[in-house]
Formats: sequence, C-alpha cells, structure tokens
Amino acid sequence: MALDGLENNNLKLIIFGGKGGVGKTSCAIATALSLSENFKTLLISTDPAHSLSDCLEQQIGFKEVKIEGNANLSAIEVVADKALSKFKTEHFVELKRLLETSTNLDSNDIDQMMTLSIPGIDEVMSFKTIIDFIEEGNYEKYVVDTAPTGHALRLISSPKLLDEWIKVAARMRWKYRYMITSFSGSYEPDDVDVFLLSLKRTVKRIENILKDEAKCQFIPVCIPEAMAILETRRLLKQLRESEIISQQIIVNHVMISEEGDFCKQKKASQFKYLKEIAEAFRNLNRIEIPEFAKEIKGENALNQLKNYLFVTLQDKN
Ligand SMILES: Nc1ncnc2c1ncn2[C@@H]1O[C@H](COP(=O)(O)OP(=O)(O)O)[C@@H](O)[C@H]1O
Ligand SMILES: [Mg+2]
Repeated sequence: MALDGLENNNLKLIIFGGKGGVGKTSCAIATALSLSENFKTLLISTDPAHSLSDCLEQQIGFKEVKIEGNANLSAIEVVADKALSKFKTEHFVELKRLLETSTNLDSNDIDQMMTLSIPGIDEVMSFKTIIDFIEEGNYEKYVVDTAPTGHALRLISSPKLLDEWIKVAARMRWKYRYMITSFSGSYEPDDVDVFLLSLKRTVKRIENILKDEAKCQFIPVCIPEAMAILETRRLLKQLRESEIISQQIIVNHVMISEEGDFCKQKKASQFKYLKEIAEAFRNLNRIEIPEFAKEIKGENALNQLKNYLFVTLQDKN
C-alpha cells in the first residue's frame, strides 16, 4: 500500500503525528519531497525540538527557506513562543484595552496580565500561522511535522481553547457595553470588538480546514510496539472527538530481513503487534515502512523512504 489521495487538488494540509521517535519528521520530509515533484510545497515543523535541519542537512529557521536543489519546496519552523509574541505585539493595543475596559484591574495589574500567557494560546498562534500561510496561497501543499502526540493534540484542540477564551472576553465586554449603553443610550462597536470578531473568525477558519477531509489529512505514524499502538489508539480517539477522521496510517520500523538472530527475533516479536495494528486500524489505508540499516538522513535515504511511501504512485508514472 502507498499513501493515497495526497495529490488531490483540494487537499491542502497534511499533518503527521505520533509518539516520539517513530518517524514523523522523516515521513513528513519524504512526503513533502514527493509532493514537490508536482506541487509547490511548504514543509512546516511545529516541533520545539526542530529536527528538519538535521535530516535535510540544511539550516531551517523561523523564516521560509527554499530547499537546496528543489525549486518547488520550501521549509519553515514555526516556534510557538515567537508566533505568540508576534500576535501580542500586533494586538497589544486591543489586548490592553480589553483588560482596561472589562476588568477592575489597575494599570499595574494590567501590565502584569499582559506578560502572562493564556494556556494553550501559543499553540493557537502556531496553528494560526499555518492557516495564514494556507490563506496567503503561495503554495499548493502544506506538510506539517508535529512534536510527540501530546503537542499535536494540543495543536488540534487549540481552536476550542481559543473559542472558550473569546467567550469569556465577550462576556466581560458585555458588561462594559451594558454600562456604556445605560449611560449614553447607545454603543458603537470599537477596536476590541472588531479584534474579538477577527479571533472568532480565526477559530472558524482553523476548524473549517481541520474538519474537512477533502482539505486536510492527519496521518498517524506508528511502530509495531505495544506502547506505540496504545498511544496511536488514544491519538485516533481524541482526533475523532475533535471530528478529525484519519484515513491512513504509517507503520514504520518494520523488520523485513531475517538475516542473523537479531533480525529474526525482532521480526518474530513484531509479528503479533503487526497483527494487532492490522486489526485495530483495519479501516485505515496502512503503509508499512521497513527498518532501514541506517538512520534516515540526506538525499539518498529520503528518496528511498519516499519510494516506500509512494510506490504505487511511482508505478503509475
Ligand atoms: N524506517 C526507519 N529505519 C531506520 N531508521 C529510521 C526509520 N525511520 C526513522 N528512522 C530514524 O529514527 C530516528 C527518529 O526518526 P524521526 O523521523 O526523527 O522521528 P520523530 O519525528 O517521530 O521523532 C531518526 O534518526 C531517523 O533517521
Ligand atoms: Mg520529529
């Protein structure tokens, strides 16, 4: 089996998720390389332990860079704190005014509040950055490499968190609006209202893409080991709860070789887990990737992985 449907024109966003060390970064890069053969592609890492640079053997940072020797592929690392501080700088006036008009805090308290982080808001800003890229439309495909499961889930649930925050802020504003109306008889929406509305739209924009199977695919990466299977089950369950349905799964590090005792034993130990995976995720298109003799680094190894991921696509060409 090979990864399916990623070349559909409507499909914009492909997110890889899973336990630490299972091969998310390698698969995300190989997928981006394959898609860039036909589409202008942006590879995005939201993992704070950014590893794109290592695997691609090229420095990737907070600004988009072209991948050497590939005119169709660029990459960027989205750092949550940086995305958040950019947001705070851009909306400092509205955020401050929101606190001034909606709370009884004095200016010292407000200054202190402005430096505090709202839980989950940095992930929201990471996702907002991704959605902004998609809406700018400079690329046809956006491939996202995430940090281990917990982080990916926070990223996925970030719109819900932001929505709750907006509700609280709107309720605080409602009191302010009521007060103004009772004193002056009318209320004109101000910059803060416009700001809250634009945040609400951000939530909707994120949800619209995430929940649309035609526009977004979340691809879990798993390995034939008990803990990884457990974590993948949990990941898929939580994705379903967020109305995100995965269609395919990558099973990496599958031992093919039977040469020598080590390989024989490894293969035997993986047998029951591969069966369990086939059963547990029977509704998903399953792509098995063999254990490579060496780590996946540099062009040759990545091309090899790309062939395993997209072999039937290649056959068609
Ligand atoms: N099929 C494989 N065979 C051998 N090494 C692999 C394979 N897949 C990934 N690796 C190596 O395993 C390590 C972790 O992979 P990586 O893609 O960084 O995982 P993650 O992003 O999930 O943490 C890397 O050194 C990578 O080169
Ligand atoms: Mg990684």
